[in-house]
Amino acid sequence: MTKKRLSKGILIAFEGIDGSGKSTHAKILCDDLIAGGFDAILLKEPTSGMWGDKIREIAKFGRAGISPQEELDYFINDRIEDVQNNIGPSLRAKKIVIMDRYYISTMAYQGAILGNPEEIRQLNERFAPLPDAVFLLDIEPDIALSRIIKGRGGISPGFEQEDYLRKVRGIFNSLNLPNLRRINAKMDVGQIKGEIDRDVDGLLKRYVEKRAKTSP
Ligand code: TYD
Repeated sequence: MTKKRLSKGILIAFEGIDGSGKSTHAKILCDDLIAGGFDAILLKEPTSGMWGDKIREIAKFGRAGISPQEELDYFINDRIEDVQNNIGPSLRAKKIVIMDRYYISTMAYQGAILGNPEEIRQLNERFAPLPDAVFLLDIEPDIALSRIIKGRGGISPGFEQEDYLRKVRGIFNSLNLPNLRRINAKMDVGQIKGEIDRDVDGLLKRYVEKRAKTSP
C-alpha cells in the first residue's frame, strides 16, 4: 500500500473535561488516518507507566494524603517519560502523533487547584513539544458526568467532581493558545468529526511531501 509521507511529524492533542468525548474522537481520527495510509499513533496521558499508575490511584481513591504540588509532579514526571520514550521518537520518525490529553489538561486540572495555569504551561513547554493543533471538546460538567455515569455506572472520587470540573472547564475556556480550536461537544459525533477533519486536512496539506513516495 502507498504510504503517505510527511515532511515533518505532526502533533495533535485532544482535550476536555472527563466525559467530553475526547477519547472517542482521538481514536476515530487515528483510525481514519491509518486507513488513509498515514503513519499515525494514538498516545494517552496519563500513561501506563509508573507515574501513570500513581495518578490512577488518585483518580480511584481521591486526593487525601497527597499535596497539590506532589500531584503536579506526578503528571510532569509522567509526561517527561512520555516525551522521551514515545512522543519525541514518533515525531522524529515523522509520524502523526495524536494525544488523548496533553499538558493543556495539566494547566486546567492542576491549575484549578494551584491557581497557576500559565506557570504550568511554561513548565511543560520547557520539555514538551508544542502541539500543531489542539481540539478542546467543551461541554457542561453536569452533562459530562451524566454521560460517564450512563457509560461506566459511576464516577471516580478523584477528578470527576462537578464543582471541580466547573473550575477545570473555566480554565480550558479561558486559554488563548495558538492552534487551539474549541468545539461544542454537545453536537453529534458526525458534526464534531466534520469540524476536526476540516482542520486536520489543512494541516496535512501543509506537511504531505510533494513527491509521491512509496514504502517498500
Ligand atoms: P482520563 O483521560 O480521563 O482517563 P480515563 O480515560 O482512564 O478515565 O484521565 C484520568 C484523569 O487524569 C482525568 O480525570 C484527568 C486527569 N488529568 C489531570 O488532572 N492532569 C493531567 O495533566 C492529565 C493528563 C490528566
